[in-house]
Amino acid sequence: MKISLFATASIGALCAATTALAIDPLVIKGSKFFNEKTGEQFYFKGIAYQPRTGLKGDSPDALADTVGCKRDVELFKDLGINSIRVYEVDYNKNHDTCMKLLSDAGIYLLLDMPSPKYSINRLDPYWDHDTMGHWAAKVDAFSKYDNLAAWIAGNEVANDKDTTSSAAFVKAAVRDMKAYLKTKGLKTPIGYADNDDMDIRMNLINYFNCGSEETRVDFYGINIYRWCGDETDFKTSGFADVTKNMTDYKIPSLLTEFGCNKIRPRTFPDVKSLYGSDMNSVFSGGIMYEFTEEDNEYGIVKVSYGNPKVEKTGDYDNLKKVYSGLSTKGVKMSDYKPGGKDSVCPKVSDMWEVKSDVLPPTPSAARCKCMMDSLGCTLKSTTLSTTEGKILGEAIGNICGLTSCNEISSNTSKGGYGNYAACSAVERSAWAINQNYINTRYLQCTIDGVETTIIKSPKESDTDVCLIQKDDMGNIAAPLSPYDDDTTDSSSDEDDSDSKSGSSSSNKKSSSSSSSSSASANAKPLFGLAQLVAASGAIAVMLSAF
Ligand SMILES: *[C@@H]1O[C@H](CO)[C@@H](O)[C@H](O)[C@H]1NC(C)=O
Ligand SMILES: *[C@@H]1O[C@H](CO)[C@@H](O)[C@H](O)[C@H]1NC(C)=O
Repeated sequence: MKISLFATASIGALCAATTALAIDPLVIKGSKFFNEKTGEQFYFKGIAYQPRTGLKGDSPDALADTVGCKRDVELFKDLGINSIRVYEVDYNKNHDTCMKLLSDAGIYLLLDMPSPKYSINRLDPYWDHDTMGHWAAKVDAFSKYDNLAAWIAGNEVANDKDTTSSAAFVKAAVRDMKAYLKTKGLKTPIGYADNDDMDIRMNLINYFNCGSEETRVDFYGINIYRWCGDETDFKTSGFADVTKNMTDYKIPSLLTEFGCNKIRPRTFPDVKSLYGSDMNSVFSGGIMYEFTEEDNEYGIVKVSYGNPKVEKTGDYDNLKKVYSGLSTKGVKMSDYKPGGKDSVCPKVSDMWEVKSDVLPPTPSAARCKCMMDSLGCTLKSTTLSTTEGKILGEAIGNICGLTSCNEISSNTSKGGYGNYAACSAVERSAWAINQNYINTRYLQCTIDGVETTIIKSPKESDTDVCLIQKDDMGNIAAPLSPYDDDTTDSSSDEDDSDSKSGSSSSNKKSSSSSSSSSASANAKPLFGLAQLVAASGAIAVMLSAF
């Protein structure tokens, strides 16, 4: 409040001061980033920044730790980096101090949209208004900073041939968040970061750059850990193949994580290729993984939240040496003629369970609320304990084994999405309980272990009305036509554990900083209801208004 009063009182003076100091905006032209002001090509010379050590509470947010920021920005300057990638922040906290320190140091931010509680779960994917609301709140909190360079809408979400259906939901999220940014007059690009899985990588690369402009990402990221030690080179590491694959790509690509740690000390041999003639006409640089030393041992400094002390590992100077020796120039924006091609959408196959031309619907809080208001049998509370979530998940599994739950579920390889598929897990559960009530001729509303309630005269008597409610972007979506249910026995579909995918995965970082998966490994995929079982935290904040 104080700040805005001050700003209006002396707006002229402030504007003059900020233009003089402000970091230059970046823009995308074709497959490259440019400094909009100077017209020079921009290469991300970055580092992943997600300190975990010494964290109190369960919401890591290094950009709210002013002691840590002051400590680390000095090191960022010393390393000569121009960007950081941050995965998790708490949008309720204040980030002004850190963002100003970073901006003054010429450092841009790439920020992931998801957080562990609000992400698309690869084993049980869906995209609903709660998740969208939290991403939008993050956008609102960070869009005011002049050094916010890009958003990342998902990190390694689909990571093998069995989890490709999640890509459809990520792309739906990209579509909706692009539209959201547009309503706010923002042009920040949105990208995706893949995990370089041999089986599915080309499908992912093509999928996120195909179809209508509104649904495509603005840039593509690859998290790559193939190049280990000085014995390997551009060719033998596989980097040459990866570069060739991206050569005619229409949008910028960058390495959203790189740096193997299998051979120590780390000498970062990939940096020379990435910023040199091997790759610099294709990639826009990258993000070394990662700044702080954590359990997975990729860090170059040891630090702890709120503590000004720093201990550098030997790799710190190695990275500094390679990063400071770079003088990549690239092309001038005015001289550059974009030439990339739209990608061709991948077809459904053993390696790709997504029908590319249909996306999951835009969430509609109004549609879901209307549906909830129409139920004659429903959950007594929309906040559930972990135990209740587990019981409910099992009960819904049984109900949907006996009756079609297509209205609340999805089949991505068919392009089939139910009218309430973009409702929250709790809302979809309530729908199923009511379905059971109807099927039992209004005899059975109870579920052992979860409190339910009968509503004698529901507020909404005509569910057709629900289907013409506005979605969260303010559009009226046409009701979806029901899709066929040709499989009721899903157990047979899940038995394809014959081969473990990904020969390239041997070098991958062992513990993920990923913000995109909080799934429990053995949760049975079921319309997003595994989330009820796996992530009790998500349930406490259900039904927040978008
Ligand atoms: C991508 O690279 C792989 C080798 O890693 C190659 O087999 C494949 O043909 C390439 N695909 C395209 C579309 O360039
Ligand atoms: C989705 O549809 C495909 C194609 O009809 C079918 O083979 C598959 O079993 C369905 N998946 C689920 C989870 O129902």
